[in-house]
Amino acid sequence: MAGALTRRGLIAAGLSTAAGACHAQTYPGLGELARRRGVIFGAAIEPATVDKDYDFAALLRRECTGLTPENHMKWNVLRPAPRRFDFGGADRVVAIARSQNAAVHGHALIWHEANPDWLARELTPRTAVEILEEHIGGVVGRYAGKVRSWDVVNEPVERNDRRPDGLRQSLWLNALGPDYIPLAFETAHRADPSARLVLSDYGLEYDDESWMREKRGTMLELLAGLKRQGAPIHALGLQGHLLGDRPAAFGAGLRGFLRDVARIGLEIYVTELDVNDQKTPGTLRQRDEAVARIYRAFLDTVLGEPAVKMVTTWGLSDRYTSKIDMFPRPDGQAVRPLPFDEAFTRKPAWFAIADAFTGAR
Ligand code: G3I
Repeated sequence: MAGALTRRGLIAAGLSTAAGACHAQTYPGLGELARRRGVIFGAAIEPATVDKDYDFAALLRRECTGLTPENHMKWNVLRPAPRRFDFGGADRVVAIARSQNAAVHGHALIWHEANPDWLARELTPRTAVEILEEHIGGVVGRYAGKVRSWDVVNEPVERNDRRPDGLRQSLWLNALGPDYIPLAFETAHRADPSARLVLSDYGLEYDDESWMREKRGTMLELLAGLKRQGAPIHALGLQGHLLGDRPAAFGAGLRGFLRDVARIGLEIYVTELDVNDQKTPGTLRQRDEAVARIYRAFLDTVLGEPAVKMVTTWGLSDRYTSKIDMFPRPDGQAVRPLPFDEAFTRKPAWFAIADAFTGAR
């Protein structure tokens, strides 16, 4: 298999690197390559873009064995008012996934961001348990058997908040204390005992950042504590928002951290992978190559851990990435953080991910 999917190999074999439908059968998608090693490959989507762009829908069908709603399972979308659920967009994501036989990764049941204004007003120590149970029970229950896995608690660790346990000062922590975390997992488990339940966070990836090394320690304590108390948690979500302008420091530290998570008895899902080239210098081609090298270095280390069972990129094509608005480049060009470019042509990043899945050198 070595080298089988490199661009040179494909060009030598006379195969186009364009992603047009007429080439649909000429190479396996990332989902198929990941499947061969027991991993789901997914992407985060906005249902409206899939519905308005037929080529994008076809690309997702060919490449993805998993899908995550980028925004449509967050409170601010699902819960416009205290007594009202709006499941329109979330239902659509589940239907799109079903139509292509992809596993849905739900995102996110409890998060300190993307909450409707009313939540902060209504959440008190007296009401919080009922509100949490109503939300998680209602959402997870609706999609029981249809959503394979859930980010139950997203980004609960923030060492800058200076609590001895390292937990973030969030509206949920303020209302319920640290118990909101096991309560969220237990409630989700009751609503769908078959769902894989995940605690996700960022800032765990780089070996050369002292705050990330510390955060790994805090995270391990949190995960081990949850397991000890019997909380139904099944995986750590490693977000994987990487940077294109710094060394790819994914070595022994990351490897050891993932091993420790696996030893606790948890799987590991990469839930939001992308490489931000906002500050990456060079020509477009040089930037794309730099981004690809970072994907490859990260995935080589991560996929070396057998507990890793899912890799999801935060979008699939540079045509649709929230990073364009969030991270404008100083030269006015758009960022290019994903495996396909805006014309749905495979980028060096696609080949890097493919080669990481196949183990090609
Ligand atoms: O849908 C509305 C639209 O109706 C309105 O006209 C427009 C005006 O601003 O806003 C639209 O909503 C935006 C939404 O993305 C969809 O584009 C929100 O304002 C915007 O805040 C929201 O940003 C999302 C952000 O999370 C906050 O929820 C990003 O798309 C999404 O990529 C980002 O994802 C997060 C993960 O959930 C958690 N980890 C970090 C990651 C990246 O920041």
